[in-house]
Amino acid sequence: MARVLVTGGAGYIGSHTAQLLLDAGHDVVVLDNLSNGDQAIAPGEADFVRGDVSDRPELDNLLADKGIQAVLHFAGSIIVPESVENPLLYYRNNTVASQGLIEACVAAGVDKLIFSSTAAVYGEPEVVPVTEDSAKVPISPYGTSKLMTEFMLRDTAAAHDFRYVALRYFNVAGADPQGRRGQSMANATHLIKLAVQTALGLRETLTIFGDDYDTPDGTGVRDYIHVTDLADAHVKALDYLLDGGEAQVMNCGYGRGASVREVIAALESVTGERLPVEVGPRRAGDPPSLVSRADLVRDTLSWEPQLDDLEIIVEHALNWERQLNQRR
Ligand code: UD1
Repeated sequence: MARVLVTGGAGYIGSHTAQLLLDAGHDVVVLDNLSNGDQAIAPGEADFVRGDVSDRPELDNLLADKGIQAVLHFAGSIIVPESVENPLLYYRNNTVASQGLIEACVAAGVDKLIFSSTAAVYGEPEVVPVTEDSAKVPISPYGTSKLMTEFMLRDTAAAHDFRYVALRYFNVAGADPQGRRGQSMANATHLIKLAVQTALGLRETLTIFGDDYDTPDGTGVRDYIHVTDLADAHVKALDYLLDGGEAQVMNCGYGRGASVREVIAALESVTGERLPVEVGPRRAGDPPSLVSRADLVRDTLSWEPQLDDLEIIVEHALNWERQLNQRR
């Protein structure tokens, strides 16, 4: 068992992972500035510190005083269009903040780090499914800011006694099966979040962003992964590093795609009602299809997804959104 620091542990993926780390018997310290996070979804059993990853003195104290053995770094900014409008904010919150964190780890002798990377590092891949070796040509500052952090991790691992796992997330969706937490960001732009809000009558219609792509039904295809399975991959990545595993960068998806229309059909099957949808133009910067090759993560971490089912994913997202709406 280890004592770990979870940055962004009051966020969507960080909070789910913090819970599974606690369930596995680890000691968890959450560091979150609550700029996008919600303290209500951070697990109550974790030691909660409100603070910023870029506050170096605070970080140095935390790493030393709390006896941290490994860091799971979720904190960051994730809205792709916002990164296009305000790139320097993304380089600060993602790249610069990560540089400071990695440096603090090396200085404190914390030699294990798990990093939230993204499929956005691949940009618009020419061949799908994408392997870890596919070309990295991000088309947004968000993707670039994450890829730059991967480079820093790679070079740090080569120069110092330091090992890391970077997980490149595909489309993360769903919510805690027990309803304790889910995607709480107020201005989320994700398909499944917007679709369940429409099903609950919080939005009038869902717009399909283009149905003339070169895909089986013309709509965009993505590799949707349940947040609890993704959180479990982090717990296994920690075990891997604790067991002496070498630095590794891995795709994290299920390795199969679903179209926008298939997501809508899954939701309609869960609710038993038709979803009001309309077809609109393509959204700038959306690749037609983004699906992972995910053999490496399965083989390296012995990761076995438990919730690889689109209906389960949308049902959990729906349950969470209903709760969130009642709370507000
Ligand atoms: C993007 C980023 C991802 C990031 C995520 C959340 C890329 C390649 N991926 O994923 O790294 O983590 O945003 O910020 O940049 N769609 C509709 N109608 C809607 C919303 C979406 O049809 O109202 C479609 C999109 O065109 C796309 C699919 O649904 O085909 C998924 O979109 P979304 O959930 O926004 O995620 P990505 O853009 O794939």
